[in-house]
Amino acid sequence: MVAVDGPSGSGKSTVSRRLAAALGAQYLDTGAMYRAVTWAALASSIDPQDAEAIAKVAGEIDLEVGTDPDAPYTRVDGTPVDRAIRGPEVTGAVSAVAAVPWVRQLLVAQQRKIIGAAARIVVEGRDIGTVVAPDADLKVYLTASAAARARRRSEEYAADLSATAADLDRRDRFDSTRSADPLQRATDAVVLDTTELGIDEVVARLRAMLDG
Ligand code: CDP
Repeated sequence: MVAVDGPSGSGKSTVSRRLAAALGAQYLDTGAMYRAVTWAALASSIDPQDAEAIAKVAGEIDLEVGTDPDAPYTRVDGTPVDRAIRGPEVTGAVSAVAAVPWVRQLLVAQQRKIIGAAARIVVEGRDIGTVVAPDADLKVYLTASAAARARRRSEEYAADLSATAADLDRRDRFDSTRSADPLQRATDAVVLDTTELGIDEVVARLRAMLDG
């Protein structure tokens, strides 16, 4: 089991999917799960700051995630939400939702179940190496300069660069300053700065680490 953590735009998703495909492993995007709960809350007109209401929604929805790296999907009560969970409304509210302790407990339990059922799996998120799977075979922490992360994200979403940079900065700050922060880097994670590295290079390095 491989844990890939790191901030937005560090290359986590692309690297994790490619690595999983190359290994013939499954792939789990835990950020999509936090985004799906956020989508469900917004769809019910719940204030993302209302922790109690958020926790209730998280407990009520049927959240399904597909773990094929070539065709991952996220469904809420049977509805595909893959596109909607990447929209600005969800992106703007997800950090608040992910800060609700009960939401984290619930999703971490689901993630551990999925990991337990998989023969081999690459899991990406923020707390995989620290909380979800501290016993992972390989823990990777991807980073990149703030400028590179903002550029990648704005290209990926065809969004304005300065607005994207401001959103990343806000989420980075929020995600890393919450109390009892589980989103820190695992002390035994391999840190890879991807600012100057292409995806293929990063994937090749991780494969070499797993082989070696
Ligand atoms: O790739 P990007 O940073 O845009 O986000 P993501 O991986 O889809 O995660 C979205 C948000 O979910 C993050 O900003 C965190 O607030 C939260 N998250 C979390 O708390 N724990 C995780 N394991 C994954 C995501």
